[in-house]
Amino acid sequence: MIRAGIVGGTGYGGMELLRLSLQHPQLEVVALTSRSEHGPVGAAHPHLRGLVELEFDDRTPQELGPEVDVLFLATPHGAAASAAHAALSAAPELRVIDLSGAHRLADPALHAAAYGFEHPHPERSAQAIYGLPECGARELVADARLVANPGCHATAALLATWPLVHEGFVTGPMTVASATGSTGAGAHPGAGSHHPRRSHDYRPYRPLRHQHAPEIRACLAAGAEGEVPPLHLVPHSAPLSRGLLATAFCPVAPGREQAAVDAVHATYEHAPLVRVLDQPPAVHAVAGSCLADVSVAVDDGMVCVMVALDNLGHGMAGTAMQNANLMCGLPEATGLLVPGAGP
Ligand SMILES: NC(=O)c1ccc[n+]([C@@H]2O[C@H](COP(=O)([O-])OP(=O)(O)OC[C@H]3O[C@@H](n4cnc5c(N)ncnc54)[C@H](OP(=O)(O)O)[C@@H]3O)[C@@H](O)[C@H]2O)c1
Repeated sequence: MIRAGIVGGTGYGGMELLRLSLQHPQLEVVALTSRSEHGPVGAAHPHLRGLVELEFDDRTPQELGPEVDVLFLATPHGAAASAAHAALSAAPELRVIDLSGAHRLADPALHAAAYGFEHPHPERSAQAIYGLPECGARELVADARLVANPGCHATAALLATWPLVHEGFVTGPMTVASATGSTGAGAHPGAGSHHPRRSHDYRPYRPLRHQHAPEIRACLAAGAEGEVPPLHLVPHSAPLSRGLLATAFCPVAPGREQAAVDAVHATYEHAPLVRVLDQPPAVHAVAGSCLADVSVAVDDGMVCVMVALDNLGHGMAGTAMQNANLMCGLPEATGLLVPGAGP
């Protein structure tokens, strides 16, 4: 059995990782940390009452590192930047998966601009593998000690655009409009993210300035031949709890539209957590699951790729668990092929 620890157990990422671990045949969560909660985890996560016997743990990342095989960091970015270094310094053979943005940008200047703080250990970001297995990272993740799990908008935007960019179809700037549910803002409500402000509203936020745009561009540029066309991201806040829908507009040369559609199908043919549909995707079909649904529409010189996923599933904890599987030599979808709740 793989022994896993979670730093940040009271948050949505920690909660979802723990939930996924209950259906995983070869991974057990043995420690779940919190600074604010003590006692049974069911107190913070009522839907897990009676199903989990764990109690919150107050050990530090460096104390936990030598005790587990895999350590998930589900904390704010600054805490994860220190925690990954502390845990890996204490246990160099440990496998760390960071759900935050702390290790997604290898360039310290890009990191500081996106996240607003100087990285205390930029050498760790330089070593980290950007962990989106479907977009060229499977083999790299399998050998990694530190994986930077992608952001939720970034995951959807990359699933939409990577196949077209990778195969050289895109001829001009790409635009991605991406809408996420309120769990995307974490367990602690802020002025703009609590229920009265979000539940009946639909609005853009940080248009063309969101911190996920640099990681999308970096992932698209990695391994690409020649210059990658610019990508513009406009995130939206949607009146959903779970779920994210991204629509990417990608210009292609007239006459190449069907070949571009074929490239999307070919990319995901052997991706067990991605379904390519012949109809537009819907959030309700993936909410609660680790699946991503992808669909493509074309017009003259334009390919539109739509992606629906659960921001806590394939947009976060599902991909983190997929990365843990790969790092531990298991098939990537082990324990993850469970349907969402449906309507
Ligand atoms: N929510 C999403 O859809 C989503 C998707 C992709 C990625 N992410 C990223 O994943 C990370 C976790 O997100 P989340 O939504 O789970 O956040 P969250 O609900 O706000 O939870 C954050 C957790 O971190 C703990 N924490 C806070 N400061 C800490 C510190 N200094 N040291 C140790 N633990 C600390 C908190 O627990 P205590 O206060 O009890 O210690 C809490 O359990 C974030 O970096 C986020 O950007 C989120």
